[in-house]
Amino acid sequence: KDKVKPVINVGIIGFGVVGCGVYDIFQRNARAIELRVGSKLVVKRVADTDPDRPRPIEFDRSILTTNPEEIINDPEIDIVAELIGGVDPAQDYIMAAIRNGKHVVTANKELLAKSGHSLLVEAGERKQDFYFETSVGGGIPIINPMKTSLAGNHIREIKGIVNGTTNYILTRMAEEEKDFEEVLTEAQALGYAERDPTNDVDGHDAAYKIAILASIGFMSRVDVSEVYREGIRNITQKDIAYAKELGYKIKLLAIAKEIDGQMQVRVHPAMIPVNHPLASVSHVYNAIYINADPVGNLMFYGRGAGAEAAGSAVVGDIIDVARNINTGSTGRISCTCFEEKVLQSMDEVQCKHYIRMKTTDKPGVLSAISTVFGANNVSITAVLAKSTGEPGSAESIWVTHTAPEPSVRLSLEAISALPVVTEVSNWIRVEE
Ligand code: HSE
Repeated sequence: KDKVKPVINVGIIGFGVVGCGVYDIFQRNARAIELRVGSKLVVKRVADTDPDRPRPIEFDRSILTTNPEEIINDPEIDIVAELIGGVDPAQDYIMAAIRNGKHVVTANKELLAKSGHSLLVEAGERKQDFYFETSVGGGIPIINPMKTSLAGNHIREIKGIVNGTTNYILTRMAEEEKDFEEVLTEAQALGYAERDPTNDVDGHDAAYKIAILASIGFMSRVDVSEVYREGIRNITQKDIAYAKELGYKIKLLAIAKEIDGQMQVRVHPAMIPVNHPLASVSHVYNAIYINADPVGNLMFYGRGAGAEAAGSAVVGDIIDVARNINTGSTGRISCTCFEEKVLQSMDEVQCKHYIRMKTTDKPGVLSAISTVFGANNVSITAVLAKSTGEPGSAESIWVTHTAPEPSVRLSLEAISALPVVTEVSNWIRVEE
């Protein structure tokens, strides 16, 4: 009891959408937070390069500075929340804060995925806390539950819809029968997609997040530069319509599996059965589906971004740290990468595949194509033959049984070379 501090001071670096959300939660739920921690939590100082930007909250402007050093070097600040994102200069700020004895909370997925290990080790060796719940799934509790409530399990598989922007685009493409570019432009106008959408639509954001989840789930560091990544730019209205006809939805999936002690970690569009729980995750919502022994299947669902959702997770972390400060138990959970597991290449991946191709429309075309699949030991489970509306031309859609990725790639190389095949238009993995 003697150790309980009457006041625990927090400094926020990055006073944008999430920073303001955090500040607001501390005002709104001050009484409950104080009761839960046993201390008053005070946002003593906030730092931002742009002091004048419009902010949706009332706050005491005397706490605002443009100099993060005023937080990092303030001996009265116990906990620093880094909410600027990106590697540089966030990494230097966090390292300096840890070395000054501060506990750190961050939402920074890119930094975590690229150099979380050194920061965790630095904090852990000093018995300080370094929490990052917000980095994956925004408001969804997933990292702390994996490290605590699920610590008795062997995590076998993690499948997530962890990028709200791409899920919003794919949902609207499916609902309104629009193409990617049209929905992207509208999403940008509405503020759901960035002006430069690369980080989201090409799967970088999802790759950072699944690298973080896999490293915790499988207790092994994952090098994010080696995570296979494919975005959603090639998904067309046609593929979405054929997926529906075949009983699937197309989602940008972040997948991590442990197979025979090795890891598969990948991000790509995938067809999932319409009755899979992830298929009903729409618009900007995120969800993470976990299979673990002994708990079985779990799904964590909620808003993956925004002031309130992300603010909730940041404040949750700050409260956890504050409780640890009061009980003298900071640094309890540091880096959990106790093993070094091999990251498999895509050649090891086995799943079903959807393939759409354009051909000439004459007898023997489908049998010529199926002969090539057969010769490569790829078995077919469904075929749709469609007219294209152009005379002499046809479209066919093929779904394979589970097959090794190289066999499908070799089949498609040979099929593309057939004189009757005009083009292999798309190839999408199917995750059952
Ligand atoms: N850009 C991310 C998304 C939100 O679209 O989900 C922050 O992680």
